[in-house]
Amino acid sequence: MQLQKTLLKGVDFMTSTNIVRQYYKISKQDRNRLLNQKPLVIWLTGLSGSGKSTIADMLEELLFEKNYKTYLLDGDNIRHGLNKNIDFSEEGRKENIRRIGEVAKLFTDAGLIVITAFISPFKEDRDTVRSLVEDGEFVEVFVDCPLEICEQRDVKGLYAKARAGVIPNFTGISSPFEKPEKPEVHIHSDSLTVEDCVASIYNFIKEKIENR
Ligand code: ADX
Repeated sequence: MQLQKTLLKGVDFMTSTNIVRQYYKISKQDRNRLLNQKPLVIWLTGLSGSGKSTIADMLEELLFEKNYKTYLLDGDNIRHGLNKNIDFSEEGRKENIRRIGEVAKLFTDAGLIVITAFISPFKEDRDTVRSLVEDGEFVEVFVDCPLEICEQRDVKGLYAKARAGVIPNFTGISSPFEKPEKPEVHIHSDSLTVEDCVASIYNFIKEKIENR
């Protein structure tokens, strides 16, 4: 394997060449049969403080209780591990979402129902993830909460720091958020309870994951 250094602002990684794809005896369909479910990527996008993590967490709990095999990928957690070498520049965010897209693709291949909670501010990057998985396997959920409310809540105290100029490139303040144009599910998290948000996602996905 030949390794080649790729220079990309905000990210430091290598690309590989001269690689040949291997085929496996056990297929995705085999795993779906074994797990009695159909995989799905439930992609939550929205501003920091919009409620993505809370909704994702409760949605996973609901699915778990219904005996579905799930996995939750959350921005703040992934940025402590797999993506800890990535910053919040435009290039950094693109690489963050590219990696998560690939991880979500692997997990759906493994048969899991993957829930992701990332700001994922750029439409192009979300569309790229959609194109990575099979048709109908990507459910974009817009967790829509006005910036003023997210800023009022300021659960992590980050908006105050962003306004003070301590945190650069902060989404909604000094870095853009491109709203989804046609999300599969559009949730107004400022006016609904978390339970109602979870229920609207579950109602949309329940037939898609059924394989029993
Ligand atoms: S994304 O834009 O690349 O998708 P991601 O979801 O992984 O972002 O991480 C967002 C979380 O990182 C926020 O909830 C917040 O806690 C924290 N954070 C730290 N710096 C920033 C920043 N500049 N912009 C947005 N969120 C930030």
